[in-house]
Amino acid sequence: MAIDLFRRKSLDAILSVASDEKYTLKRSLGAFNVTLLGIGAIIGAGIFATIGTAAAGDASRPGAGPSLVVSFMITAAVSALTALCYAEFASMVPISGSAYTYSYATLGELVAWIIGWDLIIEYAVGNVAVAISWANYFRTFLETAFGIHVPPWLSTDVRTAARIPGLLDHAPHVLGVPIVFNLLAFAIVMIITLVLVWGIKESARFNAGMVIIKIIVLLFFVGAALYFVPSGSIVKNWTPFQPRGWGGTLAGAAVVFFAYIGFDAVSTVAEETRNPSRDLPIGIIASLAVSTLLYVVVAAVFTGVMPYHELVQRLATEQAEPLTMALDHVAPTATWAAAFVAFGSVVAHTAVLLVFQLGQPRIFFSMARDGLLPPTFAKVHPKFKTPYVPTIVTGLAVGGVAAFASIDEMVDLTNIGTLFAFVLVCIGIPILRFTDPDRRRPFRVPFGPYLVPGLGMASCLFLMIYLPPASWWRFVGWLALGLAFYSSYGYCHSTLGREGGRPHKPPPVLKVLSGGLLATSIGLFGMPHGVGLRGLVDALMAGELRAVLGIGLTALGMSITMVALAVARRSLASR
Ligand code: ALA
Repeated sequence: MAIDLFRRKSLDAILSVASDEKYTLKRSLGAFNVTLLGIGAIIGAGIFATIGTAAAGDASRPGAGPSLVVSFMITAAVSALTALCYAEFASMVPISGSAYTYSYATLGELVAWIIGWDLIIEYAVGNVAVAISWANYFRTFLETAFGIHVPPWLSTDVRTAARIPGLLDHAPHVLGVPIVFNLLAFAIVMIITLVLVWGIKESARFNAGMVIIKIIVLLFFVGAALYFVPSGSIVKNWTPFQPRGWGGTLAGAAVVFFAYIGFDAVSTVAEETRNPSRDLPIGIIASLAVSTLLYVVVAAVFTGVMPYHELVQRLATEQAEPLTMALDHVAPTATWAAAFVAFGSVVAHTAVLLVFQLGQPRIFFSMARDGLLPPTFAKVHPKFKTPYVPTIVTGLAVGGVAAFASIDEMVDLTNIGTLFAFVLVCIGIPILRFTDPDRRRPFRVPFGPYLVPGLGMASCLFLMIYLPPASWWRFVGWLALGLAFYSSYGYCHSTLGREGGRPHKPPPVLKVLSGGLLATSIGLFGMPHGVGLRGLVDALMAGELRAVLGIGLTALGMSITMVALAVARRSLASR
């Protein structure tokens, strides 16, 4: 069974399924559109929202202060190493499944499933964070530009609301329970979903317009800040450069990693690109380069106009809108400037939402084509030629979670999930050079198959270490949930597995295995997060209910999993 789980799908088989008429998408994108899609995916909540908390820090991590610029450079280098690996894969395997497809060909089905499941964190959970940030800026835009006030109980989640004095008192109550949900975040995701069901070409045009606006607005922020603040003051505010040392700079890098996520999303439109072998590497690398340039300049200006000691005094909700906060700080009377930046930010977020809502269904589409997800996810709309079922499912899930989730947790979880996916992509490059050396590679990572992928992998792992413990628990819980689904569905429905003689229905031992993994996952999600391993042990010793139940269920689930795994290995191997 162990070998069967790592059965690899040959690249020829992968490429031939995609050429099946039934699964064909419309090829209408060129290198320029692809680059714009990349920029559309990259520049969003990361620069418009997370730089506030990355520079200031919070209770669980130190802030970067003015060294935020270095944080951005570090993360750019990490992303560039991975981007080169993505470019090699995307040119060689121009299939919409992105890292999922690449690992199916290199590391085998189990790893492919894990990565496909993990990419849900990058795309869908990432978009939850972006939708929440969109709602923040949209509310500010309506307020500053038109004086329209959206009540906070309709534009935030209950835990964030609880941190703002008096807010819950103003929310309507039903049976004594305050009603708080992010209607704005939900609504924007639904609108984007409709656009995406409609068609890829229309979506790409919509994206191009938004990319132009977001670049103009970031440049406007830089120009306005330099206009209002003398350069001498900016330089003065850059000292001390690293108020919390390297710890702050690196923790900042782990947070702003979010700002770079998206260059890889370009690879999900491979089957809708006219000349993917050429256009995808161009799109991936060009979009990353343009975004890096803008980020470094904006970060330098932001930390130059907003002194660190002032920044740390601000509420977390203010830090979540750093650019308008900075303009308000330097020119309180120029509300038009803040309104313009808020408008641009809304547009930027919309573009990110669009590309990620576009990418996620295409990964589901690829997984369903391989039998790992139900076949309905691989249906193409007869008229619009889009994968409409996964598009609608993704829309409802992202919108639904965005209505109730808090942004910081979603950003941290997205970062850890994405870094993990990047690690696997980097590992895949040397493996495929070894197992399939003769395949045509229109683009190759420079300096041989080991250096760039090796550094890419190590640097992603390094950044993962700087993410808070809460995101680690949730990440592992999410992976356990994915494996529960795989053992009860994907293992037996996999097209490749069935060709290799796997049972068509899960035998009882796989159901038990799935139950064990599910219990592990529920336990990991249920136990207290954010306290670290030591805090967890203390809570357990103190008999805290959540710790006892969460850890107890995790331990029980893991034990069942181990036993079931041992039995499954023996019984399935002997088939
Ligand atoms: N890079 C994307 C953003 O910053 C996810 O919104």
